[in-house]
Amino acid sequence: MVQVTAQPTSGLDIPSLDAELESQSPQKILECALSQFDNIAISFSGAEDVVLIDMAHKIRKDIKVFSLDTGRLHAETYQFIDRVRKHYGIAIDIMTPDAARLEAMVNAKGLFSFYEDGHQECCGIRKVAPLRRKLSTLDAWITGQRKDQSPSTRASVPVVQVDTAFSSDDHNLIKFNPLSSWSSADVWMYIRSYDVPYNPLHERGFISIGCEPCTRAVLPNQHEREGRWWWEEATKKECGLHAVNPSEA
Ligand code: ADX
Ligand code: SF4
Repeated sequence: MVQVTAQPTSGLDIPSLDAELESQSPQKILECALSQFDNIAISFSGAEDVVLIDMAHKIRKDIKVFSLDTGRLHAETYQFIDRVRKHYGIAIDIMTPDAARLEAMVNAKGLFSFYEDGHQECCGIRKVAPLRRKLSTLDAWITGQRKDQSPSTRASVPVVQVDTAFSSDDHNLIKFNPLSSWSSADVWMYIRSYDVPYNPLHERGFISIGCEPCTRAVLPNQHEREGRWWWEEATKKECGLHAVNPSEA
């Protein structure tokens, strides 16, 4: 167990905690996160997140998990989410977009407006608003972000931070990124070593997987982020879930 010298929950000194945890393993970081916060959940969609679920489940069986169902995920991703639910015997809270806002957008602009005027509006309705609703009920959340997922937007992702993008005046939200220093190779070594379930799309050249119309397979040696929103510049390839990252602000 990591000896946390920072103050417990309400008065946690986050920069000190980040410095203490920076060189620790993801398992130790999770142990610390779960011991400091009861009202904490893992945000799940991809390979990294199941690694976190696997590690967290070994620490605490009643770990909370949620997933943002944009309505545009691949059929394989929906099957994968359900496989993970059954494999670990956990409840996964599925968050869906606001029907009225979604109808207004698609009826005004069609189902593929993101190819014409960018993905921000659609991601805002399908991902960010449901995430904001979920995070308003939590004290802390855990993501699978890694620094090397995106040199232009994630290079300085810390292990733990105050999520100023989703905090409010009376609600300080803490965000843990236990895999911040792991590479994709580390993630896949763990998946293979512990027989962790994964999305079958990875067997077809997909690395970073989001919504079906905005994700494509990559060629050998192409960066994983090139398979996301490929019609946009690298600096714009974020959807707002991680708006606290400096380059996204
Ligand atoms: S994204 O912002 O570009 O879509 P990415 O796919 O790299 O994010 O995933 C980074 C982390 O964001 C994941 O490890 C996960 O914690 C969270 N995340 C991304 N998409 C979802 C989703 N649909 N549901 C829940 N969490 C998600
Ligand atoms: Fe919409 Fe594409 Fe964003 Fe999914 S990734 S919410 S389909 S713009």
